[in-house]
Amino acid sequence: MFSKANIDIDFAQASSFDDRMPERLRWLRRHAPVYWSEATQAFILSRYEHVVQVSKHSELFCSGQGVLPGKINAKIGMIDEDEPRHGEMRSLINRGFTPRMVRQWETIFEQITAEALDAIASKGECDFVEDIAVPLPLILIAEMIGIRREDRGRFHEWSDAMIGAQGNLDDPEITAAAGRAALEYYGYLVDIIEDRRKNPRQDLISILVRARDEGVLVQLEDRDEARELGVDCSELQRGMNNDELIKMCVLLLVAGNETTRNGLSGAMQLLIENPEARQRLVDDPDLIPAAVEEALRLTSPVLSFVRTATEDTELGGVPIAEGQKVLMIYGSANRDEAQFDDPDRFDLDRRAQHLAFGIGNHFCLGANLARMELRVALREILRRFPDMTYAGDGPEFGSSALVRSVKHMYVRFTPEQG
Ligand code: HEM
Repeated sequence: MFSKANIDIDFAQASSFDDRMPERLRWLRRHAPVYWSEATQAFILSRYEHVVQVSKHSELFCSGQGVLPGKINAKIGMIDEDEPRHGEMRSLINRGFTPRMVRQWETIFEQITAEALDAIASKGECDFVEDIAVPLPLILIAEMIGIRREDRGRFHEWSDAMIGAQGNLDDPEITAAAGRAALEYYGYLVDIIEDRRKNPRQDLISILVRARDEGVLVQLEDRDEARELGVDCSELQRGMNNDELIKMCVLLLVAGNETTRNGLSGAMQLLIENPEARQRLVDDPDLIPAAVEEALRLTSPVLSFVRTATEDTELGGVPIAEGQKVLMIYGSANRDEAQFDDPDRFDLDRRAQHLAFGIGNHFCLGANLARMELRVALREILRRFPDMTYAGDGPEFGSSALVRSVKHMYVRFTPEQG
């Protein structure tokens, strides 16, 4: 049983997310929804209403002093910028995420999905994570950024190494590997940026580079120069410099890859563990979008993000001083009894707004893309392998304080003939 005496742990440490976490969060939601954690050095926010309140008031709770849980202070781009810079950057990259662009990527994603499923179809068993959940979003985001086909393996390793450092800062080997991966990826991107300047394509880097050539994007130095000259250049100030462009690609790699992978593994886990709901989906694929939303709510692939108070304020009656951090636990908000009836139930008829993609001005840029990926992947898996079930003991979890990380999930199914 939990009490005030034993509730505190470091909520930003990967190892804290053990079997007892759901119970711990339930206790917090009920007894201390805005809880100062000495071990984390942050207020732990476990209720839906407080996550919404903080996310929607970016002037009071900013992102600019870091959003990642734990002690990493590195700036990783748009996600930890405040207004107005955040909005400027977002409006540039948005060009790559419009509904029209998502539809274009959908056709490519259908091919990626078909290839991955073809590779396992006759086997009758596979590791769902390694064979399906890993390659699908990875290949799509690689295509979107413009990574060469032969470099997909390296891209995968960089992504794993960089995200693996979250919550594992006490392990020098893991942090060194993350540093090496970041440097290699940076170097690789510089080459791609140079190439797309000369040979533009349909990928995100080409979109951003082209915007620069059209005069929307300019080098930081140009802006400084313009400012010195006293030129009013609101259009120029929208520019993204090379460094920001690279950071954006790092952000996309980490944000678009691990999250969707774990959303997909989590969705399959829920389908296997809820056979009645799964049968309804097999019979009526129009329900798949509802299943995607429920899976996102219940798995909450991103565990938590941080905000920093910009002035003395309060939340739920608890005073918060300027400079103090709050940690928003999305998975807890998404199971808040005050917001959702029977919150732990996988309910295809629920039509409630969850917070798996956040809310407010930093709402996930890739939400529509991720939804499309989950929808297409589940539709094809259910169509081709409707009886997929565990071949082992169910999912094996990895350690991360940032994403709900499923490392392996062995499944079996009736193989396709011929
Ligand atoms: C199931 C999959 C995904 C989940 C659960 C997820 C979750 C989130 C969450 C919770 C945030 C809010 C951050 C905040 O408020 O500080 C966010 C932001 C973001 N996500 Fe996602 N995400 C997913 C997929 C993607 C994909 C596929 C991409 C891109 C390819 C992406 C790119 C981003 C970016 C760039 C931001 C920062 C937006 C901003 O600061 O304005 N995400 N995501």
